[in-house]
Amino acid sequence: MVDRLLIKNAAQIVTPEGKSARHGREMKQLKIYENQSILIENGKIRSIGNQPDWEKLVPADKQIDASGKAVLPGFVDSHTHLVFGGYRPDEFLWRMGGMSYMEIMERGGGILNTMKATREASREELVDHSMDFLKKMLAMGVTTVEAKSGYGQDHDTEIKQMEVVRDLNEKQPIELVSTFLGAHAVPPEYKDRGDDFIEFLLKDVMPEVAEKHLAEFCDVFCEKGVFSIEQSRHLLTEARKMGFKLKIHADEIVSLGGAELAGELHATSADHLLHASDEGIRAMADNGVVSTLLPTTAFCLKEPFARAREMIDAGCAVALATDFNPGSGFTFSVPLMIGLAVIYMKMTAEEAITALTLNGAAALDRADRIGSLEPGKQADLVILQYPSYKFLPYHTGINIVETVIKKGKVVVR
Ligand code: NIG
Ligand code: FE
Repeated sequence: MVDRLLIKNAAQIVTPEGKSARHGREMKQLKIYENQSILIENGKIRSIGNQPDWEKLVPADKQIDASGKAVLPGFVDSHTHLVFGGYRPDEFLWRMGGMSYMEIMERGGGILNTMKATREASREELVDHSMDFLKKMLAMGVTTVEAKSGYGQDHDTEIKQMEVVRDLNEKQPIELVSTFLGAHAVPPEYKDRGDDFIEFLLKDVMPEVAEKHLAEFCDVFCEKGVFSIEQSRHLLTEARKMGFKLKIHADEIVSLGGAELAGELHATSADHLLHASDEGIRAMADNGVVSTLLPTTAFCLKEPFARAREMIDAGCAVALATDFNPGSGFTFSVPLMIGLAVIYMKMTAEEAITALTLNGAAALDRADRIGSLEPGKQADLVILQYPSYKFLPYHTGINIVETVIKKGKVVVR
């Protein structure tokens, strides 16, 4: 039997178009339909338009009147550290008092603080903890979320984190995409032996992750004082041979050349990029690397925002994501992120929407399936309380998502 859903009379249906990332100027080209409907069949978009027989085809309780409302693709949060134990509110306040993120890390706080709590947490605790976050993300219109490991830095805890992601995928509507980030910090067991730690990950953890399909991507915190360009290149090159797709935490704190490395390796995405150089920007544009910007992290670290305008003007495909984590940015607020992108980063509202939908999907290698409203794509969409997408940045910091549909099913109403 065909399972249908009809979203009718939408004031506006707004979407980027295509099955791959939109680069540069393409980012602001949105398709806008006015006063039209979307027919969904078996979880996929069948058609967008106005056919008189659609109302007869679909049972009344499967029709949603969207008059006066805008419809957009579901949002894709392509960079989060979703699964972790414990919290670090004191560190946040130390930062506000002037201490730097790296100073806190060097004193054994930061990632290593969360590592201890994550090692101690049970699987059930981690699942419960993350479920609560996911529920709130869904309510803000997020239908796909990437989730990184990286708070274990030992075999068992890294595997535990990724198994939690796998379990969460079965337990709630958001699709989770798993990334292995074992190289997130050097754990105390390998103090001053970063190279040995990378060999440990390559030999004792990653083959199992690959074999059990526990992660699709491999990421690394490529940063001064964490993992160098050479270490990152070695790790990612070997990761690719094992079948992982590549991501890099690049140029977050200093300009180290992470964006250039992402270009060299043709990584799927380079993320953060607060201090990406001009050469790095060119390398991403030339090599089809999605430039994933994380405005809430810059905001919470009180750092300058990434150069979104320069990147887009140079032809990069920019994505926006939250980087939700217990340290550098304990927030997954989509409204705050859109506000920061449009108010401070010189992105237009249209570019911000492409960044959060199709380009986010491209950062997860899913642009052929999600990220836009087009026939054949998965029916992941949000209905806003207001008639235009322009209310997203304008109603600053407020969640205006009213209804969320995932794979053709109403999951928030
Ligand atoms: O993306 N920079 C490295 N990792 C995270 C922060 C992790 C943490 O502080 O717990 C980030 O900002
Ligand atoms: Fe991150």
